[in-house]
Amino acid sequence: MAATASSRQAWRQLMGNTSRGPASNILRQQQQQYRSAFCRQISSTTRASSRRTVSQPPSFALRQQPLAQRSYSSGSQGKNTPPKGSNNQVKFWPFLIVIALGSGGYMLLINRQTKMPPTTSNTTTDGRSTPAFSPADVTVLFVLGGPGAGKGTQCARLVRDYHFTHLSAGDLLRAEQDRPGSQYGQLIRDCIKNGDIVPMEVTVALLENAMRDAIQASGGRNGKFLIDGFPRKMDQALKFEEVVCPAKLVLFYDCPEAEMERRLLERGKTSGRADDNAESIRKRFRTFVETSMPVVDHYEKENRVVKVNATDTPDGVYADTQARLRKVLGDKF
Ligand code: C5P
Ligand code: MG
Repeated sequence: MAATASSRQAWRQLMGNTSRGPASNILRQQQQQYRSAFCRQISSTTRASSRRTVSQPPSFALRQQPLAQRSYSSGSQGKNTPPKGSNNQVKFWPFLIVIALGSGGYMLLINRQTKMPPTTSNTTTDGRSTPAFSPADVTVLFVLGGPGAGKGTQCARLVRDYHFTHLSAGDLLRAEQDRPGSQYGQLIRDCIKNGDIVPMEVTVALLENAMRDAIQASGGRNGKFLIDGFPRKMDQALKFEEVVCPAKLVLFYDCPEAEMERRLLERGKTSGRADDNAESIRKRFRTFVETSMPVVDHYEKENRVVKVNATDTPDGVYADTQARLRKVLGDKF
């Protein structure tokens, strides 16, 4: 339930600064509701105190602090009744201050949201999304395998020899976690520490934005991507292929747990990663078996998996990777 709630919240926040998509409609409806509630409160408050009505944009900051509970009047005079003998100015100023604070909070919220660009998939007239990138222009290989299977090591070699752009979902999440002002920082930190999957909206948006940046940086010439450590859950797979780009295949590095654990504990001596410790590693393995393997199974059924045994040395695994990719994609993949 908590994951679903945080996922919904992340989606609303993510889509908050895009003008398209169903999530923005929900947000607009919410804003409309708060606007109506706000106006009702204002008119009843102003009727009670016989003041003039004030029209002002509503603010999310007002959600947690309803107008009637704030210190419009205090002491023994009654909550919304102006104190006897007070003049108009005295009753009007607190009201203005509340509105100014609320508007300031609203602007702050908007400014924070604009720091992480939204996903930009197109929505058809019947409400379905179409991918932001066409597989005719962009090639996506998902790279999967348990934690410590050697995905990053193999991706580095493929980048060197075949000029892919390497995007590690884990690296993008860690960068977002450390970005000052990110509203997802704490959420990502908690998920990573516990080996849990971050709500897919966050990861999909980070990947799409990174792909767009890479394509722009290459002047549109390089559209070949290795998406490493993704999709780790079925919802990530479905969402990415729906709104970003269908993947050509999944490169899956198969490695026994004992070997992955040995590698991760060794890496943990110098990596500085919060999840390269025995307890987090155990949780990551469980998540991998329960949540990520079904993704591999899904693509296997569709005949889109290239499986490589990852127990050998990095060079040995790489030779096997090249041989298997050549078989499927031809010599110049
Ligand atoms: O791939 P990497 O081991 O760097 O991922 C670290 C952590 O990032 C994962 O254990 C998980 O908490 C999070 N993650 C995720 N979804 C992904 C990739 C990583 O939630 N697709
Ligand atoms: Mg990695």
